Amino acid sequence: MIPLPLARIAEITSGALAGMADPRAVVRGPVVIDSRAVEPGSLFVAIKGERVDGHDFAAQAIADGAVAVLASKPVEVPAVIVGDTVAALAALATAVCVDLPETTVIGITGSAGKTTTKDLLARLTARIGPTVAPAGSFNNEIGHPLTVLKADEGTRYLVLELSARYVGDIRHLTRVAPPKIGVVLNVGTAHLGVFGGKEAIAKAKGELVEALTSDGVAVLNADDPLVAAMAERTQARVTWYGRAESADVRAEDVTVDARGRAAFTLRTPSGAAPVRLRLYGEHAVQNALAAAAAAYELGLPVATIAEELSEAEPRSRWRMEVTDRQDGVTVINDAYNANPESMRAAFGALDALAGGRRRFAVIAALRELGEESAALNEDLGRLAGSAGLTGLFVVGSDAEPVLAGARAVAQDGAGGVPGPDGASSPQEDQENGAAAAATVRITHVADAATAGAELSGLLAPGDVVLVKGPRAAGLERVAAVLLEGDRQ
Ligand SMILES: Nc1ncnc2c1ncn2[C@@H]1O[C@H](COP(=O)(O)OP(=O)(O)OP(=O)(O)O)[C@@H](O)[C@H]1O
Ligand SMILES: [Mg+2]
Repeated sequence: MIPLPLARIAEITSGALAGMADPRAVVRGPVVIDSRAVEPGSLFVAIKGERVDGHDFAAQAIADGAVAVLASKPVEVPAVIVGDTVAALAALATAVCVDLPETTVIGITGSAGKTTTKDLLARLTARIGPTVAPAGSFNNEIGHPLTVLKADEGTRYLVLELSARYVGDIRHLTRVAPPKIGVVLNVGTAHLGVFGGKEAIAKAKGELVEALTSDGVAVLNADDPLVAAMAERTQARVTWYGRAESADVRAEDVTVDARGRAAFTLRTPSGAAPVRLRLYGEHAVQNALAAAAAAYELGLPVATIAEELSEAEPRSRWRMEVTDRQDGVTVINDAYNANPESMRAAFGALDALAGGRRRFAVIAALRELGEESAALNEDLGRLAGSAGLTGLFVVGSDAEPVLAGARAVAQDGAGGVPGPDGASSPQEDQENGAAAAATVRITHVADAATAGAELSGLLAPGDVVLVKGPRAAGLERVAAVLLEGDRQ
């Protein structure tokens, strides 16, 4: 970060120095909200959360080397006292951005794929200049400014992920770090309940391109009508990406290999180059195209873009992590989060990867979908029920609509799981006749640990398991049980 004396921090945040803070003491970073991440030279920002209050860790932060604490009440150690520490964090990031005219800010938003696209684009921009991008998914009113504060005079590219829970959230983040390039991926149904409709979600995501000036570039998905409509809402020039022939940066001749990884020809206005992704799932093509279009606008040659995209491995955890166990069982861990679109993408990837192998899935009901929750979760159940699964585990006390949807389309083989060779018990054969192959055993379990334990007993060499649910369901624990002691 840019070194900032405490006096300057107090000025920027309209705060008051307290606790014998030395106005000349210099914060050199990092700025952190987790006291365990404090390093000598840090500024510790005390945030009062639902469960913990950062102010309780002020003394520890100073003991560990923090120069001061940004706090909303006196903490008996050197501090800058402000009214609202989250707002002060934004003010600091805003001031730092103003001091970095050489840094190009690129903002990425959308319902699914922000982190994946951010990781790809950061890899691309690193080829042409020092790049700062958040680790993982730092995309809200706290994570976003924390990332901005990592930049310094040497930073040429700041690649940021912007998320919205409410209309106005993204506008706020664009004021903190005004973007030169804005990338909008898609408008899905994530957080539908909070927003109350897809149009409201589109309104919120579009705030990113509304913030662009006429010398900026809006990178828009030509394949998503609600994103395409955002072209009307920006003063910036528009670059289109997608599968559509009209797109400036597009994928042609897309193929998917037996592992569910896509290859395609990347076509741009100045030439084409072959890309073979190491990321799983056909939806990764969209994210790769978005990153490619932004990089193309920044002047990267097509061959370099194609080369980097082909070398990129998944960077952020629990997003389509595919692991082969020594016994030949393949686990697809996509437990990071889920919404209706990413569920569909994950089952698509399962289909491509599994081919003729036995398939299992562990899922949990989607959340934050508001009035449409029951209907969308029944849709999810139907999707899972018709995915050619041998066994489906639905985790959690809110699983009923998913179970109902799955039972509606699948023959529930509650009597037992057919063997790996597809053979079922004689009794089942009698009951189900020729339909035995379509039988799926549907199991409702209370928690991730139970799902992991029960499924472990059913798996045989060659099986493929998809694990995916909303963040709160914590299904990565299922994958951990399945992979225990077996990572290759
Ligand atoms: N273009 C896409 N279409 C559908 N699903 C996608 C797409 N890109 C990623 N996904 C899936 O969405 C989930 C989240 O991916 P990722 O973390 O990249 O998205 P995100 O937008 O950053 O999510 P969050 O809002 O939770 O930060 C993963 O399960 C991933 O496989
Ligand atoms: Mg993310």
